[in-house]
Amino acid sequence: MNKAEFGIIGLGVMGANLAANAAEKGISISVYNRSEGIEARVVADFLKDHPGEHIQGHTQLTDFVASLARPRKILIMVPAGAPVDEVIDQLTPFLDRDDSIIDGGNSHYKDTFRRCGSLQKKGMAFFGVGVSGGASGARKGPSMMVGGQQTNYYLIQPILESIAAKDPNGNPCVAYLGPQGCGHFVKMVHNGIEYAEMQLLAEAYVLLKPSLDHDTMAELLSEWNEGLEQSFLLETTINILRKKENGTPLLEKVLDVAASKGTGSWTVQAATELGAPASFTASALFARSFSSLKKKRKQLAALSNAAKTDALITIEALQNAYRWARVLNHHEGLQLIQMASDHYGWDVSLQEITRVWTNGCILASTLVVDISKAISEEDFLQHPMFESTRKNGVPALDTILTEASAQHIAVPCFSNALQYWYTMSSVSLPANLIQAQRDSFGAHTYRRIDRLEDESFTTNWNNTHG
Ligand code: 6PG
Repeated sequence: MNKAEFGIIGLGVMGANLAANAAEKGISISVYNRSEGIEARVVADFLKDHPGEHIQGHTQLTDFVASLARPRKILIMVPAGAPVDEVIDQLTPFLDRDDSIIDGGNSHYKDTFRRCGSLQKKGMAFFGVGVSGGASGARKGPSMMVGGQQTNYYLIQPILESIAAKDPNGNPCVAYLGPQGCGHFVKMVHNGIEYAEMQLLAEAYVLLKPSLDHDTMAELLSEWNEGLEQSFLLETTINILRKKENGTPLLEKVLDVAASKGTGSWTVQAATELGAPASFTASALFARSFSSLKKKRKQLAALSNAAKTDALITIEALQNAYRWARVLNHHEGLQLIQMASDHYGWDVSLQEITRVWTNGCILASTLVVDISKAISEEDFLQHPMFESTRKNGVPALDTILTEASAQHIAVPCFSNALQYWYTMSSVSLPANLIQAQRDSFGAHTYRRIDRLEDESFTTNWNNTHG
């Protein structure tokens, strides 16, 4: 058999779908999966499901490595964390200089930093690639965010480009974004934005529930989906609302306790380390945390007996509030990526990142297409494209929060949107008092608006005589 162009390690859902996608694009592939225990038949089953002359399968790592054309290009699709290190350790003794390893899992960007450094020392290239789009994206065309050694990117670029989704201009939704952990950082923030996008939809759902049944809500959201609100997540939500079990909405039977795998939490941690806000992701992440306190919520519900109004939500206000909140959510996420890029010296292009997000990924939407057009050196919130969204969105958020409050409905992400906007558009904040308090009890010093920026001062604040 001829040597394969592309190797894939790990035939879980994502690995198997990416392998099938690559094979369909005419790329000769070789796949490897271990064969212990319940994984005994994974490779054999994959080969049976995908009969084709350019697919080879192996359960011995040495045979797998020998089946690949040099320089080798190997995609690892195993769970993030220790399994990635284990595979790298098992694999590298059989590899040569200029071979490339691509980690396509949701790895932590700091792990990717470390792995890039240690493989580069061995003369090999390591790429941390954020792959988005879930199982169907992997099969039909995902969006991919590449970080790693730029000089070797040309070796893997044609393969990644042929399996990627296409943007509205027909270009592949994959790009080299920066060195080291840059690709995984961008994917992590993509997920952080995703958390808040999901939470905003969940809040819209709870606000609409008193007025609309599931089918009518799905109809309304389908109308939204015809216009500016179009998105993969909105489509997903519409399908969920329509799903029935024995004639009743299945959604009503789903326990209201949300799980998470970690990227939302990592986004918030990374933001705090960089001194950047990630308030949307944090509200969405903590909304999931609150949801898990089900027992406590039931207990305290007995105390919540203040009168609620039965006034219904204004649907037009909800649509305008949702539209502006989403713009702000993306704004905050992209700002975090920019701050990380400045800190690590990645020199990312937000235009290229948003272009890569226009299709194939969970964030794919008309809004992302618009942001990719509006984003340049100027802050994209200043672009005329978003002027009417802002003008209608700010009062609409105010209306929605008042209405939600009258009905005692918690809407942390909508609420965060208004706070985010008021904060980000304030020339002055009461942080002067925070600084004075810090200096008063801890002599932590403060800077003055009437002196040079790098001068610091401390004062005995208890002696109130100037
Ligand atoms: C994607 C998704 C994918 C996955 C998340 C879910 O871009 O394809 O983001 O990575 O669905 O890991 O994360 P939680 O389980 O934390 O919600």
